[in-house]
Amino acid sequence: MQEKNSAFPAGFLWGASTSAYQCEGAAGEDGKKASQQDIEAAAYAERTGFADAQTASDHYHRFREDIALFKDLGLTSYRFSIAWSRIFPDGTGEVNQKGVDFYNELIDCCIENDLEPIVTLYHYDLPMALVDKYDGWINRQVVADFENYARFVISGFKERVKYWLTINEQSIIVQFWTRKNIIREELQDNDQLRFQINHHMNMAHAIACNLVHELVPGGKVGPALGYAPIYAASSKPEDALAALNAHDLKNAYYLDVYMKGFYNKAAMTYLEQNGLAPVIEPGDMELIASGKSDYIAINYYNSEAAEYCPPDQPRSFAGFNMSGKKGEMSGYETQPGFYRICRNPELETTDWDWAIDPIGMEYLLRDLYSRYNVPLMITENGLGSVDVLTEDHQIHDTARIDYMKTHLQAIKRAVDLGVEVIGYNPWSAIDLLSTSNGYHKRYGLIYVDRTDTELKDLARYPKDSYYWYQNVIASNGTALSD
Ligand code: BG6
Repeated sequence: MQEKNSAFPAGFLWGASTSAYQCEGAAGEDGKKASQQDIEAAAYAERTGFADAQTASDHYHRFREDIALFKDLGLTSYRFSIAWSRIFPDGTGEVNQKGVDFYNELIDCCIENDLEPIVTLYHYDLPMALVDKYDGWINRQVVADFENYARFVISGFKERVKYWLTINEQSIIVQFWTRKNIIREELQDNDQLRFQINHHMNMAHAIACNLVHELVPGGKVGPALGYAPIYAASSKPEDALAALNAHDLKNAYYLDVYMKGFYNKAAMTYLEQNGLAPVIEPGDMELIASGKSDYIAINYYNSEAAEYCPPDQPRSFAGFNMSGKKGEMSGYETQPGFYRICRNPELETTDWDWAIDPIGMEYLLRDLYSRYNVPLMITENGLGSVDVLTEDHQIHDTARIDYMKTHLQAIKRAVDLGVEVIGYNPWSAIDLLSTSNGYHKRYGLIYVDRTDTELKDLARYPKDSYYWYQNVIASNGTALSD
């Protein structure tokens, strides 16, 4: 139970999150060239009728209005990402000064409004030029090109940005690699490439950590990992072992690299035995071990359950629910002989079949703090839903309030048990382009008046969750116990 009137730690960052291609729009404006997500979103829009990334929420033109709303909300941090192809339209080479100007203005605007900028260097949107040139993250050359981009950005903003995030959700990129990257059709059956891409990202992550430590006075850097704690589907020992296997391959495989500098042994052995392990060249692991993360940022939406899986089952990666109708999940990850992810009958789900599990938040914070003993930050957490704008411009998103409230209460319980949690940045600050369902599935604290097919006037309307969160922030969390 939440202790009555207990406040969050002093200096706790009460924030909210976005990513560049999902909210900025201006996808081809002021010198920016396409990212792979602009291309992917356009193809997806064509197939499904959901919106593309061309205008998105028009944050590029309306960021001052958005930040004024964040200030009124009481936010003390704003997590956003930089679009690599706005800075280097071709991935390398010529800098696009207008892109640099935009982020300078955005960062200045945050600071003028007392918001700590938390900057993600990479949120799925590799410059398309690098995909065309050499297949993007599949090719080791990307690591050097990322270093060039990261060095430029970190040097440019180092006086004003203290908190850096390297790569958003490597674990999710492995699971949904053909949605998070543009992959030539003839390569799409090669599951080893998922882990090769991830290996290149691990090198890029380490380089970014080193750059922040070299260039930013007092800078802090960490990964932003998509993370689900994994429970055993039953108390059968073989299910408990399956949950451990799933934890090793889906969570520790990433975190051990970030925090210990080496790959989790059991997970790597499984990958090697199944022809999935990345090619590691001499010097790679030394580079990876050199990059130290100061904190772990976690994107948490749901927990998962795992059960024993016989070795003769076919392999598959994560499925998804595209319809927003409960029960239409296309499948669950199956790693033969290691684990199968399954539905947890104990938990309610969102309309997209994502298990709603506030206790999972407390569980993961406790677990991660025990394992790695560094400060933790929540960089995404939120409820995707179909929100209704009333005639008088209100949005009664009570389910989102309930979701945030129970998850924040869980964070507080972890804090009360000694876990160092330094911030909460729910997804998302404003409505933005969902990676799977355009503007049909919304997460924002602020409604953006557009649909998938109609741009309308893109006006901003605070939702009920905005006012609720405002009250929580003003009380430094004590209102959560009301
Ligand atoms: C996270 C991503 O995985 O989940 C975000 O970092 C994404 O980019 C969010 O929007 C929610 O996913 P979706 O598919 O509902 O938009």
